[in-house]
Amino acid sequence: MSKSVVVLGTQWGDEGKGKIVDLLTESASAVVRFQGGNNAGHTLVVNNKKTILHLIPSGILRRNVKCIIGNGVVVSLDGICKEINELEKSGLSVLDRLYLGSACPLILPYHSLLDEVREKRLGENKIGTTGRGIGPAYEDKIARRSIRLSDLNRESLFREKLEKNLELYNFMFNKFFGVKRIELSQVYNDTLEKAQLIKPLITDTVSLLHQILDIGGNLLLEGAQGCLLDVDHGTYPYVTSSNTTIGAAMSGTGISPFDLTGIVGITKAYTTRVGNGSFPTELDDDIGAHIAKKGAEFGATTGRARRCGWLDAVALRRVCRMNGITSLCVTKLDVLDGMTQIKVCTKYRGLEESSDFPQDAEDYDDVIPEYEELDGWTAPTSGLRDFEQLPSQARLYLQKISELAEVEISLVSTGPERDDTIILNSPFK
Ligand code: GDP
Ligand code: IMO
Ligand code: MG
Repeated sequence: MSKSVVVLGTQWGDEGKGKIVDLLTESASAVVRFQGGNNAGHTLVVNNKKTILHLIPSGILRRNVKCIIGNGVVVSLDGICKEINELEKSGLSVLDRLYLGSACPLILPYHSLLDEVREKRLGENKIGTTGRGIGPAYEDKIARRSIRLSDLNRESLFREKLEKNLELYNFMFNKFFGVKRIELSQVYNDTLEKAQLIKPLITDTVSLLHQILDIGGNLLLEGAQGCLLDVDHGTYPYVTSSNTTIGAAMSGTGISPFDLTGIVGITKAYTTRVGNGSFPTELDDDIGAHIAKKGAEFGATTGRARRCGWLDAVALRRVCRMNGITSLCVTKLDVLDGMTQIKVCTKYRGLEESSDFPQDAEDYDDVIPEYEELDGWTAPTSGLRDFEQLPSQARLYLQKISELAEVEISLVSTGPERDDTIILNSPFK
C-alpha cells in the first residue's frame, strides 16, 4: 500500500526541512509542495555540493522522483524559471518531471511591488517579509481575483484579468503609496514570454497525485515555513500569509487525510527566527551569537541574520498536538556541541495551562519563559549516524525533548549533509 508522509516545520521556518525531504524522498515516487511560494529557502547538501531551492520541491536531486507544485502554492514565473534554468544548467533534468498545478495563483510584479512599498510604509513596525509578494498574492486569491497558471493558456482572458487587476493596483500605487504605475503591456508581454518554458508543465496535479497513490506510489508532502508562521495559529501579524499547518497539506494538494500515514515535525535543537515578531526564548547575548555563528544562521532566501534562542517546548508541544505530529526529527544537534549547559523552555510564567501560548503580538510582553537546565556535552556529535555513539547528555537532551513534546523522535540530524543523519524509525518503513 502506498504511504504518504507530510514534513512540517514546527518553529518559525528554516528547521532543516529541505535536507530531510531530500533524504526521505529516496523512498518516494513523488514530492509535492502545498503552500507558500518562493519565500521558502530549502538547503540540500549532497557530497559537499549545496543546492538551495525556493519553489522546486526538495526531491529534485533524485532523478526518478516526480516533483509537483500543488494548487495551494503561489507561483512566481521569474522564480520558477530561474530555478529551472539553474538546475538544468548544472546537469539535472527538471522539465521532464516537474508538474505545476493549474489552479496555482501567479505572483505578478504588482504583488512584489506592493509587498515592498507596504513594508517601507510600516517602517519600524514592518513584518520583515521576504519581499517576494507572497502576502499580496494570497490576498488576491482570497479576494477571488487571482490570475492562475491555467489562465496563461487563454491569452485574451489573461489580458482582461490583468487589466482589471492593474486598475486596482495602479490606483493604490498612484494615490496611496505615491509610486510609479505598472504598465499593462509590459507585464502582459513579460509574463507570456516567461510562460513559454513552463506551459507544458501545467497539469491537473490533483489527478496526478491520485494516480500515483492508486498504483501504490509513496508521496512526500513538503511543508514550507513553520507552524509558528501560520496565518491562523502563528504569532500574528508577524506571520506569513498561508496556512503552514497540517490542513494546508490537504487543501494545497487535494489528497485526503485518510491517505496520510505519517506527519513528521522538524525542529531544530534550539530555535531561530528571521524577520520581526515575538520570540520568547530569544538569546540576545554571547550564547545566541555563538549559536548563530556555529549554526551558520543566515537566511537561505534573503541572506538576513537569523535570531537565535533556546528550544521552546511549550510551543513545540502545542504544535505537535495541533498537527497530529506522529514523530519528530531534531536537526542541528551538532550546533550545541561543546556547550556546558543547555536550556529548554518548559512553561510560560503568567499562563495557566502548560499548553497555552500567546497568540497576539501584544500578549507576548506579559509572558516570561521558565527553563529547565540540562548538562551539555563535550564529545562532538557532528556527522554521527549512530544513536549509540551520541554522548549520554545528548541522548538525555533528545529524550527530554520527546517527553516535553509528547512525541517520539524518529530522526536526528547531525550535519548539513544528506547522510549526516541518525535514522531511528524511518517514516516510510
Ligand atoms: P529549511 O528552510 O527548513 O529547509 O531550512 P534551511 O535550508 O533554510 O536552513 C537550514 C540550514 O541548516 C541549512 O543551511 C542546512 O544546510 C543546515 N542544516 C540542516 N541540518 C543540519 C544539521 O543537522 N546540522 C548542521 N550543522 N546544519 C544543518
Ligand atoms: P522556509 O520554508 C523562515 C518569514 C519572513 C517574515 C514572514 C512573512 O525556508 O522555512 P513572507 O515573505 O512570507 O510574507 O514573510 O515569514 N518567512 C520565513 N522565515 N523560513 C521561511 O521559509 C520563511 N518564509 C517566510 O521572514 O518574517
Ligand atoms: Mg529555509
